[in-house]
Amino acid sequence: MSRVVTGAMVRVEGVRKAYGHGAAAVHALRGVSFEVPRGELVALKGRSGSGKTTLLNIVGGLDAADAGRVRGDGHELADLDEDGLLTLRRDRVGFVFQSFGLIPVLTAAGNVGVPLRLRRTPPREREERVALLLSLVGLADHAAQRSGELSGGRQQRVAVARALANDPALLIADEHRSAGRGDRARRDGAAAGRTQRTGHRPGRQSLRDDLPVPELQHPVGEVQQGGVVGTGASGFRQRAPASRIPT
Ligand SMILES: Nc1ncnc2c1ncn2[C@@H]1O[C@H](COP(=O)(O)OP(=O)(O)OP(=O)(O)O)[C@@H](O)[C@H]1O
Ligand SMILES: [Mg+2]
Repeated sequence: MSRVVTGAMVRVEGVRKAYGHGAAAVHALRGVSFEVPRGELVALKGRSGSGKTTLLNIVGGLDAADAGRVRGDGHELADLDEDGLLTLRRDRVGFVFQSFGLIPVLTAAGNVGVPLRLRRTPPREREERVALLLSLVGLADHAAQRSGELSGGRQQRVAVARALANDPALLIADEHRSAGRGDRARRDGAAAGRTQRTGHRPGRQSLRDDLPVPELQHPVGEVQQGGVVGTGASGFRQRAPASRIPT
């Protein structure tokens, strides 16, 4: 697959998504438009059920929109066949799932190594990279522990390390809206999508799981009533007016 390194990392135009049909349909996204420039960190927040996971799954090529266009890493996702989507997800996108998606019987190291195995990374290189990633997220001492035995926070950090394993051009991190008090990252940062600068390597980046999203210097958009509302912060460009199309 050719690598396009110009233009927006993510461009979403008029995306709609409903679950179910007829009167029982749930209109999760009602015409979402926004774009994320390369190298920018963008957070999307919104109340529980506002459509964050739905939107991020579509942006990451895990689910298809009913209508609208999604461009990721220079590719029109609708133009990619199943192989093209698989290649994009394997080589260019890292995903931290809301429920982590770890394999509980595999160790932390085993989970982080899965994307590297899929790419047939030689064992020595794979072990070195897994060790680097686990130390990056502060879990070097837990490499040999089964992920199912780890605390929720540590499982999430394993998921972050796994998402970074293939040095993705686009890192998508999904988190549910929690009512947890005293944890602003969870309260305000229900979902964050991150693009990495070209040439940026996780090995040079320090990760913490407790950074409060509003204190990071990046744009924040809010998912409301099926649309994304920009805050006007630099870099977060609404390509269409906030779309709150009534049902
Ligand atoms: N597979 C599905 N089938 C039917 N309805 C769904 C499905 N997935 C999501 N929905 C509905 O779509 C809406 C958006 O859900 P979504 O999971 O995207 O919200 P969210 O913003 O990620 O919420 P949270 O903060 O709780 O994770 C909700 O009303 C939800 O019930
Ligand atoms: Mg969610």
